[in-house]
Amino acid sequence: MLLDQASLQPHHRVLDVGCGTGSLAVLIKRLYPTVEVTAVDPDPKALGRGERKAARTRVSVRFDRGFADALPYSAATFDRVFSSLMFHHIPSGDKEQSLREIRRVLRPGGRLEFLDIANPSVNTVEVDRISADDFESDSSGASFRTAQQLNARQSKASAWYLTCLRPR
Ligand SMILES: C[S@@+](CC[C@H](N)C(=O)[O-])C[C@H]1O[C@@H](n2cnc3c(N)ncnc32)[C@H](O)[C@@H]1O
Repeated sequence: MLLDQASLQPHHRVLDVGCGTGSLAVLIKRLYPTVEVTAVDPDPKALGRGERKAARTRVSVRFDRGFADALPYSAATFDRVFSSLMFHHIPSGDKEQSLREIRRVLRPGGRLEFLDIANPSVNTVEVDRISADDFESDSSGASFRTAQQLNARQSKASAWYLTCLRPR
């Protein structure tokens, strides 16, 4: 789903933030061989597993150690940044800086492809509000607007937010 919404083009540069063991990054490279894929995560063990997964799959993915709030990349480097099930791990005080960093490394016209869980006890409307609070604050350089909201789903056990955001 996250990949479907991303409209990846040949030779795009992609960053997967909070890549974990690299499944998404490796899948992107397998499906889009001309896309340049970089994956970043603070956990060295996860990165090691990602590197082994990429080697086994015979794809080239660059794995770097880093946190979302201090991304080790130059400004305007990536066409797409993916964030899959990572954002809820970030302490609330660091979320805005993380979004500011994602915005900084995106090229003009770039997008953040975002999937995460929300508080399961909230209803769908509140899921929308949480998203607005997290991403569309206009007081900071971190603000994004929703380019395409694909889903805000809720069941008893979980609430999901899947969206595509463009820097304002
Ligand atoms: C549930 S895993 C998701 C992994 C992968 N993105 C996926 O969808 O399977 C969450 C990942 O976020 C990473 N993480 C936690 N805090 C982070 C931060 N501040 N910046 C970047 N990644 C972080 C963790 O190390 C972990 O690998």
